[in-house]
Amino acid sequence: MERDAVNFDGNIFLIGFMGCGKSTVSKRLCRYYGMDFIEMDEQIEREEGMTISEIFEKKGETYFRERETDLLKRLQKRNHLVVSCGGGTPMRECNVLEMKKHGKIILLSAAPSTVYERVRHSHNRPLLEGNMNVEYIAFLMEKRNASYEAAADITVETDHRTAGEIAEEIMEYIMNI
Ligand code: S3P
Repeated sequence: MERDAVNFDGNIFLIGFMGCGKSTVSKRLCRYYGMDFIEMDEQIEREEGMTISEIFEKKGETYFRERETDLLKRLQKRNHLVVSCGGGTPMRECNVLEMKKHGKIILLSAAPSTVYERVRHSHNRPLLEGNMNVEYIAFLMEKRNASYEAAADITVETDHRTAGEIAEEIMEYIMNI
């Protein structure tokens, strides 16, 4: 399908719980609309020369959270980006303020059972290691939902939908800002 060029100069931040499809949808947005892609976890892994699990294990969660905040600040200098955030990124108020300075925040939502199906074989999500079950996912999601919703400009449901459908809904919103 031929798609209009994006006349939005800011950055698009995809937030949401682990396994909500942030990376997949971000890549699709970039492919459809010619924007640049940043996956925060991957970028931090590259910069630190370690996987997320290793960073948590060797340097601790607080260190990882500092790296997230630092990366968001550096991204302010760029535009036309689609940024796939880590699931915990919007839990820090200062991160939300950074994102809002120069971008729109899109929350992807999914049911705990959908998340479980998507992440159950992953071993690079330290917060779910040893807690890989629907009950724990529902518990953590519930704890985070108010912060996710407060940060978001819009919420897009992902259950039973394709990445293409989700990307088009996001762009319809962006094009009409
Ligand atoms: C986290 C989510 C992960 C990663 C880290 C912490 C979280 O990112 O940043 O394991 O606190 O929810 P994804 O949402 O991309 O899995």
